[in-house]
Amino acid sequence: MTLRINISQLQREINELALISESPPPVVTRVLFSGADLRARRFVKKLCRETGLALREDAVGNVFARWEGSEKNLPAVATGSHIDAIPNAGKYDGVVGVLGAIEAIRALKRSEFQPRRSIELVVFTAEEPTRFGLGCIGSRLLGGVLSPQKAASLCSQDGKSLAEWLKQAGCKGKLESVPRQRNFYSSFVELHIEQGPRLEKAQVSIGIVEKIAAPSTLWIQLTGVGGHAGGTLMPGRRDALLAGAEIALAVEKVASTSGSPDAVGTTGIFRIEPGAVNSIPCRAHLEIDLRDTNLATRNAALAKIEKMAREICARRKIKISFERLNVDPPAVCDVALVRTVAHVCRDLKISCRKMISRAYHDTLFMARICPVAMIFIPCRGGVSHRPDEYSSPEQIAKGTRVLAETLAIAASC
Ligand code: GLV
Ligand code: MN
Ligand code: MN
Repeated sequence: MTLRINISQLQREINELALISESPPPVVTRVLFSGADLRARRFVKKLCRETGLALREDAVGNVFARWEGSEKNLPAVATGSHIDAIPNAGKYDGVVGVLGAIEAIRALKRSEFQPRRSIELVVFTAEEPTRFGLGCIGSRLLGGVLSPQKAASLCSQDGKSLAEWLKQAGCKGKLESVPRQRNFYSSFVELHIEQGPRLEKAQVSIGIVEKIAAPSTLWIQLTGVGGHAGGTLMPGRRDALLAGAEIALAVEKVASTSGSPDAVGTTGIFRIEPGAVNSIPCRAHLEIDLRDTNLATRNAALAKIEKMAREICARRKIKISFERLNVDPPAVCDVALVRTVAHVCRDLKISCRKMISRAYHDTLFMARICPVAMIFIPCRGGVSHRPDEYSSPEQIAKGTRVLAETLAIAASC
């Protein structure tokens, strides 16, 4: 079988999808169920139809595009990623795994390959946590990690529930119908940009992920006492922002000194009220992202941040409440699938190395229901979640080729 990746078409489609954005180019912002996200979904579904794939959507808006195999009752091979994008993002995160999968399928079809198992592309809802604070909502539900009840109770910042968003987006059915049994799929393979600098530094074309780091999200609500910025003297102030600022520094300190080189902590959201220059902040809301490849050190760091936050707030007489929004374990990729990807690279004479993913992906939750693997391609300077995110057409073509060959093997056995 000789596969030819049509990189000009794939790059054109990546560029076209990037223009479907809430922000002017080169910035890509496509928050879940925004007008741009809905238009982007229509664009991808059109490509799937043109590729001859059968479309289906579940109650949480996950999109499934299927190429029926000759033994259609066998568990299908799945691939896919996401097309939602955080504010001020670039055009490759998630998109390479969706549009790359469509091109991989087109290449397989052009080569007259006939799959034994069906091959199903999944475009997951809300991999990014922007709308609801929680990432990977579609794959969490599908993998049975998030209960339909908990999902239904999720609210966006404006107080609108997930159920309302789904209804408005035209999604139908009950969330209870989303989870899949173990081995509903025979395997899941996701193509993604690395979002780190290691492949580029090592001048290696493909990263084969063996493990995905354990992410967690901590929400902290601080309540102090507001007042006039001129009339209230400094002694005895109970400024919620200053407590939050100390907590953000504690996050940095804990992540840098946890003893694990892979520990990372970020206070990515810090909102204050009332938000007037001449008013002492009476409330602060912090959202903290803490990850590690080592579950024990991640959990210890999380507990330490909470302890330090309590101490800071006791000293500053600030009321504090916590919510651990997600505390996920790491995922391990399937040894046999990892070996298959390595064989594909070797046969194609494409350089590869095994690695850990520090970013999370829908694969983290697909691992709950089937064997998984991830194919990483380099991105310039390791930059991601920024408009200057970039992978070259050559790198994308290689990743797509490796994905196509891997899907072909997985769909044949
Ligand atoms: C995914 O976007 C992540 O934050 O790792
Ligand atoms: Mn992302
Ligand atoms: Mn992603």
